[in-house]
Amino acid sequence: MGDLRFDGRVVVVTGAGAGLGRAYALLFASRGAKVVVNDLGGGRHGDGSSSKAADSVVEEIKRNGGSAVADYNSVVEGDKIVKTAIDNFGRIDVLVNNAGILRDKSLVNISDQDWDLVHAVHLKGSFKTTQAAFPYFKKQKYGRVIMTSSNAGIYGNFGQANYSAAKMGLVGLASTIAIEGNKYNTFCNVIVPTAASRLTEDILPPDLYNELRPELIAPVVAYLCHESCQENGSIIESAAGWAGRCAIIRANGSLLRSRIADDVSVENVRDRWTKITDVSDSQILGTIQDATGALMASLEGLKSGDGGAGVDESDIYQF
Ligand code: NAI
Repeated sequence: MGDLRFDGRVVVVTGAGAGLGRAYALLFASRGAKVVVNDLGGGRHGDGSSSKAADSVVEEIKRNGGSAVADYNSVVEGDKIVKTAIDNFGRIDVLVNNAGILRDKSLVNISDQDWDLVHAVHLKGSFKTTQAAFPYFKKQKYGRVIMTSSNAGIYGNFGQANYSAAKMGLVGLASTIAIEGNKYNTFCNVIVPTAASRLTEDILPPDLYNELRPELIAPVVAYLCHESCQENGSIIESAAGWAGRCAIIRANGSLLRSRIADDVSVENVRDRWTKITDVSDSQILGTIQDATGALMASLEGLKSGDGGAGVDESDIYQF
């Protein structure tokens, strides 16, 4: 099998002036893509702006013989970033939503501005930029989109309530875009990175920080954005030269009543709690239809008295 190339493809990477975004932009360019290097060039808390960050990465790409253009818009004006791609290169094929800031504070100390700015950059920025790119993907029946989530979103992290909420919001956004884009060969996946950057330099222990080069994650993102990759709607975690899919599981659970005419009491729930929360027999449900389908099967089983498909005898609540 040959090398995976991006010749003729136009790739937009937001927040590409540093850290992970820079590593993505350099890799795409080295594989033949024309790259829009977007970066507002502000501080890590979302303050200020500068053309320096984007310009330095464009220069680096050009020095290496690649093709790139700088864009200094904030992702909240994602339509302008997509316009930069169209004006300069005539198309857009890949969008990596990567720009990000932090405003870490414990829950009681988060101001409205800390909440709103973090949501604006991560969640609204990814929405605006993807929404602007989507008509092009639809028309050309080709597109690849990456959302950037975080373990802080999936598992929570002290002092990051605003960031966690926005990052998990991106998982929901990606799941729906994956469905809406599927028939147009437009796929959307989520990357969950852990990498050394200015966002993590004072969070990660120094010896770990040195092992977490963004360049070790960039190939995972590039593969997900290649036309040969058919992955859609997945969450892929990557760090330190490792990658693995992360998925949401659901327990087989428990019926809380034995007849359709019965009500459910709080005590029924208490008495079945171990079974409700036992994930040893859990499954990954790929679609909303799988999720509601399993519920409907249980309901049908309850009506016909057999306890429901996929629910064994012992799962049925005994009064
Ligand atoms: P970074 O601070 O080095 O890079 C983020 C870039 O986004 C900066 O160059 C910044 O100027 C730019 N940016 C910020 N607000 C912008 C806006 N409104 N419009 C355009 N550009 C903007 O940080 P890093 O670590 O490379 O982060 C990249 C993404 O990965 C972020 O979304 C971050 O939340 C996420 N992430 C990073 C992790 C890590 O371990 N480094 C862990 C989990 C998620």
